[in-house]
Amino acid sequence: MKTDILAASLNATPADVLIVPLYRNEAIADGPLAELDAALGGGLRELVDAGDLHGRRDEVTYLHAPAGIAAKRLVLVGMGEPTTSPLEQIRRAFMTGVRFMRGKRHSAIAVADRGEGSALRFGEMAAEAVAVAAVDLSAYKTEDRNDLHVESVTIQTTTEREADVRRGAERGRIIADGMNLTRSLGNEPGDHLTPPMLAERTAEMAAANGLTCEILDESRLKEMGMGALLGVARGSEEPARLIVVRYEPEGEAVGETWGFVGKGITFDSGGISIKPREGMEWMKYDMCGAGAVVGAMSAIAKLRPNRRVLGVIAAAENMPSGRAIKPGDVLRSYSGKTIEVLNTDAEGRLVLSDALTYAQELGATRLVDLATLTGACVVALGHVYAGLMSNDQAWAEDILAAGGRVGEKLWQLPMDKAYREQVKSDIADIKNLGGRAAGTITAGYFLREFVGSTPWAHLDIAGTAWIEDDRPCIARGASGFGVPTLVELAAPVAE
Ligand code: BES
Ligand code: MN
Ligand code: ZN
Repeated sequence: MKTDILAASLNATPADVLIVPLYRNEAIADGPLAELDAALGGGLRELVDAGDLHGRRDEVTYLHAPAGIAAKRLVLVGMGEPTTSPLEQIRRAFMTGVRFMRGKRHSAIAVADRGEGSALRFGEMAAEAVAVAAVDLSAYKTEDRNDLHVESVTIQTTTEREADVRRGAERGRIIADGMNLTRSLGNEPGDHLTPPMLAERTAEMAAANGLTCEILDESRLKEMGMGALLGVARGSEEPARLIVVRYEPEGEAVGETWGFVGKGITFDSGGISIKPREGMEWMKYDMCGAGAVVGAMSAIAKLRPNRRVLGVIAAAENMPSGRAIKPGDVLRSYSGKTIEVLNTDAEGRLVLSDALTYAQELGATRLVDLATLTGACVVALGHVYAGLMSNDQAWAEDILAAGGRVGEKLWQLPMDKAYREQVKSDIADIKNLGGRAAGTITAGYFLREFVGSTPWAHLDIAGTAWIEDDRPCIARGASGFGVPTLVELAAPVAE
């Protein structure tokens, strides 16, 4: 997909399809759409007067071969009432407009700049929106694939905004490619993405982007004593992998080395504490934290920030078998701490504990982990916000701010020392179950025990990592959540 920036009026912007966002009950005659309306001979006002065009959120109005403008088709997308996040509304409108064209096979899309917000952020969001929305999930369909055929995107803007829009669009495209990689990994069925295959795919990403990748196999993990990760993998025919990707800046690295750690459970049956059959198929998405790390590292490699970044992924399949760990078993983690396993379905925190320890050993002095960790997080925050927990308030605030700038919603949960009581074990250093109360926080608290005083934040993306039903703005399946925030953190843009 080729991306062009064009400083021209909306009327003069050529395309198969021109996507124009508008607000609810927007005044056409004296707003940014006035010129377009005039070129259409008052056509927009006519639509409004006739009650055909309201600007309601996700409302799409399609005009074929409109006389007076260069584009062959006009797609007007409603954004609802104006809010304090116009760029997020515009991004959603672009995504809805692109998805509306599904099955119509038009290859040249243009999107309109309303002149709102920072030109750089607009460019970033516009390029990201189109590239993400143009990818659907139908990899295993042999016919009736949902793919869109977007070959080129023109971002229409003004001469004053052009340079910044271009800079933003380059970045947005890189972020979208990372998100689409995360999405395609997430959408892979468990039999097509086992831990060794996830390692292979990560190595391919690394090779393509000039990153180094190291894959630790089971014999190595045994030597090292990664008992928590190996414990989870024990019930499966598929071996565990610990995957490390390293980004090194070209010049001298500034500041600390950051470690991004991902939960990579390629399928979570629950193990001996097996899950109910209803909905178990969703657990192929239990590697979306790892997927976000892979996608973010690919983008970071292209954006080339000045700091070292490590990606560490703990990959395993959680299955029941005669060899599987059982409730009551005690594992020795890589840190040396012993863990009483009271529920084999609380496996994410087990594999992450070893990965967090290893990331620190490799030199990470600041950590973020991402994991589809608890159903309780979905109960608390639904599919809108991800949960954020941290042992360092300044670091938590950096991440909240980064999420805010890129439109990913994060909500901080408390990490009070009192939650420690709930993960105290009678016979080991800690247990992997904290009871029904505050299930998301006690899982976070468990992880906290493995990071010591290293600044760390944990993102529980159980509710945001995938989308259960098709939406007007995005296809069902893995969402790519976390990639924009990690990239914004590690490779911030000069605005
Ligand atoms: N992968 C699940 C969490 C999950 C559930 C993610 C639903 C997305 C949607 C995790 O491994 C798990 O099973 N957690 C248990 C923890 C419990 C046993 C303490 C859960 O949430 O039920
Ligand atoms: Mn589980
Ligand atoms: Zn899980």
